[in-house]
Amino acid sequence: MWHKAVSLTLLTLTLSTTAIPLPSLKHAKETSLTEAQILQIAPTSNTCENPPAEGECATASQAAKFISQSFNTYEVSSKAEQAAVIGLMAFESEDFKYNKNHFPGTPGQGITARNMQSPTFNKKYASSISALKDKLAAVENSPADLLDLLRDNETYDFGSGAWFLTTQCSADIRTALKAGTESGWQRFISECVGTEASSDRKAYWQKAVKALA
Ligand SMILES: *[C@@H]1O[C@H](CO)[C@@H](O)[C@H](O)[C@H]1NC(C)=O
Repeated sequence: MWHKAVSLTLLTLTLSTTAIPLPSLKHAKETSLTEAQILQIAPTSNTCENPPAEGECATASQAAKFISQSFNTYEVSSKAEQAAVIGLMAFESEDFKYNKNHFPGTPGQGITARNMQSPTFNKKYASSISALKDKLAAVENSPADLLDLLRDNETYDFGSGAWFLTTQCSADIRTALKAGTESGWQRFISECVGTEASSDRKAYWQKAVKALA
């Protein structure tokens, strides 16, 4: 991460000494989702009063902030890709009410994050975050504790979707997804996320496409 900070500083210095008009360095692609956009996709995220799971609910305004941050961190600027990720997260978390799995039948675990990824992915994800390095050692063999470590910080909790897309999906899938077609979305869900492109999921994706248009 700091490599990037250093090179950006150098770039800024170069530019300021050569009087080239600053091209919008903080490029126009910086994502800033609004609460209203999230509400269009996940209408019941208007409130976290009486949450179904204590300590897990996030509001549309929190989701907007931290999902935007994740797109900027992982450089997901394609609206088609953003819609796919937000649709997935909103669907899996039931409008951001949950950040771990509560379905029975996932023995002892329910190990997931906002996009409900499996323990294996949670471990890969946590390992990719340098700020978690010290804490990770103590929890890396306990999926539940590892998940709690990720859930403990909204940046990481909401970052999992963009991380997953950018590190676990092939270039081929991303190209298909970026085209914005339904078949591209279907391939992302079935070939990369590894689940069924059901009509419920599709409805969330469609709301997300519309909200981001
Ligand atoms: C969450 O993680 C981010 C990114 O590493 C960090 O900047 C922030 O301070 C952390 N928040 C808390 C509450 O620890």
